[in-house]
Amino acid sequence: MDTLLKNALLATPIGNEARKGKAQREIRLIENAMVGIKDGKVAYAGPADSTLSASNEVNCGGRLLTPGLVDAHTHLVFGGWRQKELPLKLAGVQYLDILKAGGGILSTVEHTRAASENSLEVKGMALLLEMQRLGVTTCEIKTGYGLDIENEIKQLSVIRKLRKTQPMDIVATFMGAHAYPKEYSDDRPGYIEYLIGEMLPAVAKENLAEFCDIFCETAVFTPEESRRILLEAMKYGLRPKIHADEIDPIGGAKIAAEIGAISAEHLIQVSDAGINALAQRDVTAVLLPGTSFYLDKPYARARDMINAGVAVAVATDFNPGSNPCTNMQFVMTLACLKYKMTPAEVLTAVTLNGAAALGRASVCGSIELGKKADIVMWEAEDLEYIFYRYGSNLVCSVIKDGKFTW
Ligand code: NIG
Ligand code: FE
Repeated sequence: MDTLLKNALLATPIGNEARKGKAQREIRLIENAMVGIKDGKVAYAGPADSTLSASNEVNCGGRLLTPGLVDAHTHLVFGGWRQKELPLKLAGVQYLDILKAGGGILSTVEHTRAASENSLEVKGMALLLEMQRLGVTTCEIKTGYGLDIENEIKQLSVIRKLRKTQPMDIVATFMGAHAYPKEYSDDRPGYIEYLIGEMLPAVAKENLAEFCDIFCETAVFTPEESRRILLEAMKYGLRPKIHADEIDPIGGAKIAAEIGAISAEHLIQVSDAGINALAQRDVTAVLLPGTSFYLDKPYARARDMINAGVAVAVATDFNPGSNPCTNMQFVMTLACLKYKMTPAEVLTAVTLNGAAALGRASVCGSIELGKKADIVMWEAEDLEYIFYRYGSNLVCSVIKDGKFTW
């Protein structure tokens, strides 16, 4: 064994797939546990065993160990910021109205188009470091601030570079259908034809993305357009995700179920029928309480989803507009207090179920034999503490692929 973590409190969900219903709160909790690591993978995880040894033995002093956090929904590569929208927000101007007036996502598109690939990479590195120090070992990044071939590919190339240089597993999602760029503001069907006829083939040719996402929302993409675009993306091997029923309940969840999307995300306004459809088709719900907080919107009905048998993941939605916060620990506390999810349910939501939303549940998301040794050591003696002591970074160390990265 390369490394042996001793005298730990181990808390981890179990399995190679998303946990739903009651199973979402059935985690493994072991006091005085040991975790052994070999070749970057978990080689032992269980009660103290005096027959085990390693060249590097670490006494955890009773500290909590959990799987590395999985942030399954971010928009991390972008130019500029949007702090200038703060007074508008305070004056009560709504998110979609800022977008309609050419601000919001479109202002970030302008800054992202103007930014060099190198400057986006440097900015991305700093943000990933911030996330890593907060306990994240796997994240997803969506594009959608380029909205033309050149700039969407630029964002995807930045993601590829970051993946190679940063100690973080990064999953790329193409989101050309995030908004209509200004050059198509009077020809929306024209943008959809361009996206399907030219952007999708270009993205697929470079093999830069694994998933395709769409903003299915009032005045953005209709459910019918979402279905069409995602079905086209599937022809190129991109697995579908949907920003569904975030602000208005227009039926994105039902489309997610119908086409067999891997996840439906946001879901603040989802209907009962939408929830049942997700449960029937095993679509993971990726809920984003930081966005409800920052937009001052209602919180998604996580409990109803869990009761209906939907696997719930929780992520940040980090982006410059609707949630400019990278902190998974903060969204964990929000999920606990606002969704009324138990600490065990949230732990599963931010590890194994997040991994499932990225098609990675057999690789990471739990501390089990053969999985990646992606582990967070917390400055905490029990699981509840990390939800309770919000606002401070409670991470003591992060182990990525078996190595202490900080
Ligand atoms: O998930 N809803 C659409 N996209 C992002 C916000 C992006 C932005 O405002 O820049 C979201 O909330
Ligand atoms: Fe988002």
